[in-house]
Amino acid sequence: MNKLKVVVTRRWPSEVETQLKALYDVQLNESDVPLNADQLKHALQTADAVLTTVTDAITADVLNVDNKRAKIIGQFGVGYNNIDIQAAKAQRLIVTNTPHVLTDCTADIAMLLLLMSARRASEGERLVRNGQWTGWSPTQLLGQKVTGKTLGLIGFGRIAQAMAKKAHHGFDMKILFYVPSSTPEQHIIDDLQATRCDSVEDLLAQSDFVSLHCPGGAATKHLINEARLKLMRPTAHLINTARGDVVDSHALINALKSGWIAGAGLDVYENEPNLNPEFLSLNNVSLLPHLGSSTQETRIAMGNRVLANIGEFFAGHAPNDRVV
Ligand code: DGY
Repeated sequence: MNKLKVVVTRRWPSEVETQLKALYDVQLNESDVPLNADQLKHALQTADAVLTTVTDAITADVLNVDNKRAKIIGQFGVGYNNIDIQAAKAQRLIVTNTPHVLTDCTADIAMLLLLMSARRASEGERLVRNGQWTGWSPTQLLGQKVTGKTLGLIGFGRIAQAMAKKAHHGFDMKILFYVPSSTPEQHIIDDLQATRCDSVEDLLAQSDFVSLHCPGGAATKHLINEARLKLMRPTAHLINTARGDVVDSHALINALKSGWIAGAGLDVYENEPNLNPEFLSLNNVSLLPHLGSSTQETRIAMGNRVLANIGEFFAGHAPNDRVV
């Protein structure tokens, strides 16, 4: 029997690529260079499933290509703001993502950035690496204590809750959260002794650390803007492991330069990977290259999750992680 054809747009961990090769007639991306719009269109026209990820621009133009063979887009990632979901729906394409398996590792990176920013870890490492460290001193690189401080989470889904758990139970932090519509389960709120804020503004004014956990896309673009940064405490730190365009980078650069806030820890950027170069000259921002889910265990689990989703679909069942 002929194997189903699958196109994978980027390199995946070899363990998962091996499974893909065994199960499907698979086109891997050995060079790992992201596919352009024409290549993505060709993939939709020639494969039964296209396995995309956060770096692929799956626009309406791409999705509306004529003579599609593909029925399913298996996204490697929990976020899917790179896919025009309305266009996918209109084209009757199934889209799946990979929730759950990356929750803890992404929350770990948010916590790492919080600690790096509070304790000026990036500055300290630069000092040592540049050979400029002259030895211990009572006033060297004084940061801010984390234990017992207030963490405000914007968005309160799985990753935010995992971070809150680490921060509350590990660092004795007070947890505030803002979420526009859904109501988290009471036992989760009780376990974290968390307090819901009525507005983003309310949360910003009360938090020592603000961590962003909302989805990307039009509804949250520049949610953190100049006016909101000015509401934060001058001693506060902003952590973003969600999506770059949730924060207006020009406004954040002004905030960091002008002392509206003390620091920031960023894993995601507007226009990745071409972040605003002004960030590079600022000492009070810690910069990571979108590492949220990047552990061996998690990336393999994400690949397996995509495999399970397309496997269910091809077996005639509804995939577990169907988005549309
Ligand atoms: C996701 O899954 O959306 C992450 O950003 C990838 O690490």
